Amino acid sequence: MKFFVDTADVKDIKELNDLGLLDGVTTNPSLILKSGRDILEVTKEICGIVEGPVSAEVTAMDYDGMMREAAVLAKIADNICIKLPLTLDGLKACKNLTSDGHKTNVTLCFSANQALLAAKAGATFISPFIGRLDDIAIDGMDLIREIRQIYDNYGFETEILAASIRTVNHVKEAALIGADVATVPPATLKALVKHPLTDKGLEQFLADWAKTGQKIG
Ligand code: E4P
Repeated sequence: MKFFVDTADVKDIKELNDLGLLDGVTTNPSLILKSGRDILEVTKEICGIVEGPVSAEVTAMDYDGMMREAAVLAKIADNICIKLPLTLDGLKACKNLTSDGHKTNVTLCFSANQALLAAKAGATFISPFIGRLDDIAIDGMDLIREIRQIYDNYGFETEILAASIRTVNHVKEAALIGADVATVPPATLKALVKHPLTDKGLEQFLADWAKTGQKIG
C-alpha cells in the first residue's frame, strides 16, 4: 500500500518525507486555505520535496475552466496530479487530461457507480471519502470493498486512493481490503507506529541495559 499525506503543510511533508514514509501528497482547497499560502507557490514547494504524485485540485465547475486551470497546475512540476471533482464535466476533463498524458485524481467519490465512471474516464486515482461517509452513518469501508471488486472484475487500472481517513483503523481496514493508496493526515500517519506494548517493552529493555553498565561501540 502506498502512503500519501493529506496536507499542504510543508513542515509536516518534509518531516514525513525524511522518514521515508511518503509516496505522494494530496491537497484540496480547504487544505490550501489552512496552509495560508498561495496555491501555486506552496504546490511548487511540495513538488520539490516529494518525488511521487502531488494532487492539486481545480476549482472551476465547467469543462473549459477545468482545462484552463489544469494547464496552469500542470506547469508547476512533472509530478503534478490534476485533481478533478466527480461531476460530468470533471469526468470529461479527466478523460482528456489522461489522454494527454497527465496524472488525474477524481475526488469526492461516495458511490461505486461514481468510481466506475472515473475508471472509464481513465482516472489514475479514484478518491472515495471514507470518513465523510462514516459521518453520515454509512460504512465508508463498504465503498472501498465494492470499488475493489468492480475494478478487479474488469481489470481497471485506476488506483483506489482511500481518502478522508480519520483513524489508524481506517488505514488498516483499507489495507486489508486492498486499497492501492491511503491518503492520511500527518498525525494519523505518525500514529500508525504507536503500540503501548512497544513503549513498555522498550522501557524495560533500556532499564535492563543500563544495569549492565555496557556500551555498544
Ligand atoms: C482527499 O484527497 C481529501 O483531501 C481528504 O482526504 C478529505 O478529507 P476530510 O474529509 O477529512 O476533509
